[in-house]
Amino acid sequence: MKVPDLPKVELHLHLEGGAPPEFIRQLAHEKKMDISGIFNPDGSYAYRDFWHFLDVYEAATSTLKSPEDYHRLVLAVLQESAANGVVYCETFLSPDFCGSRDLGAWREYLHAIREAADIAEKTHGIALRGIITCIRHFGPEKARETARCAAETAGDWIVGFGMGGDEKLGNAKDFAYAFDMAREAGLRITSHAGEWGGAGSVAETLEALRPERIGHGVQAITDNTLVDRLAEQGTVLEVCPGSNVFLGVFPTWDAHPIKTLRDRGVTVTVSTDDPPFFHTTMRREYDRLADTFGWAVEDFRALNLAAANAAFCDADTRARVLQQLEPADA
Ligand code: ADE
Ligand code: ZN
Repeated sequence: MKVPDLPKVELHLHLEGGAPPEFIRQLAHEKKMDISGIFNPDGSYAYRDFWHFLDVYEAATSTLKSPEDYHRLVLAVLQESAANGVVYCETFLSPDFCGSRDLGAWREYLHAIREAADIAEKTHGIALRGIITCIRHFGPEKARETARCAAETAGDWIVGFGMGGDEKLGNAKDFAYAFDMAREAGLRITSHAGEWGGAGSVAETLEALRPERIGHGVQAITDNTLVDRLAEQGTVLEVCPGSNVFLGVFPTWDAHPIKTLRDRGVTVTVSTDDPPFFHTTMRREYDRLADTFGWAVEDFRALNLAAANAAFCDADTRARVLQQLEPADA
């Protein structure tokens, strides 16, 4: 079913994960890099499972070598998001990939990223904010260096701190120092958990990192007490159903717990994660959710309101976004 076009809010988008494969192929061509092994014959990204996906993601990202490359990337990604009706987006940015966590280099990348975001806002009417993410499988020490970059550039545009990467490695508490640094700098907190790590990983992340939002969090469904806790304390889940089904976290859309979590009172939102990697878009996510769970326009409006209220932006920006979400006939 095609859900009528709605203005949308997306809270969970990895910037490099939004790179169309043809964009990465073009960069590789310009730099004379051979990364042909990461593509299928039809040109799409090729990987076997989540862990191979992380390798392919990093290989694709290795073609992004300068602030100018990120400028181009932001324009390409936001053009696609805006074409899907997204009016406000929060994207994960990693100083690991942008200047190897050197603060001076990171500032240059951030400058280029913001410049491109400003252009996209003027051209397409989409607002972007950044959440700096450390990468779990790079370890706690690099996470601290990342948190320093985050703390030094925190403000009205870098609004949050988070963590992605291989959830099966290490404990959330190993990263508590980095998260505390970011929190003290005024950044709002989210972290991936409960994608691959089970309900225990969500519980551990809540304890150790005290996030307001959780990236995915869907494995919480196996623990009723935890689901009640998420609902009671208002922890917001950045749910990416298409990503979960494509990667095999759940075998089918019917088996995805987003509806059950929502029915149990958990605040859920909908995002794409790494859209070209999972052959998805925000429109496709909505269409599949409508097909699978019978959700109607009012459900999607409610999801977008929840996402706008959970956004890490300042009050003026939120007010503008909420206005954009108002139905035209209201
Ligand atoms: N980095 C990019 N996509 C990710 C995902 N789905 N989980 C963890 N880390 C990621
Ligand atoms: Zn993610």
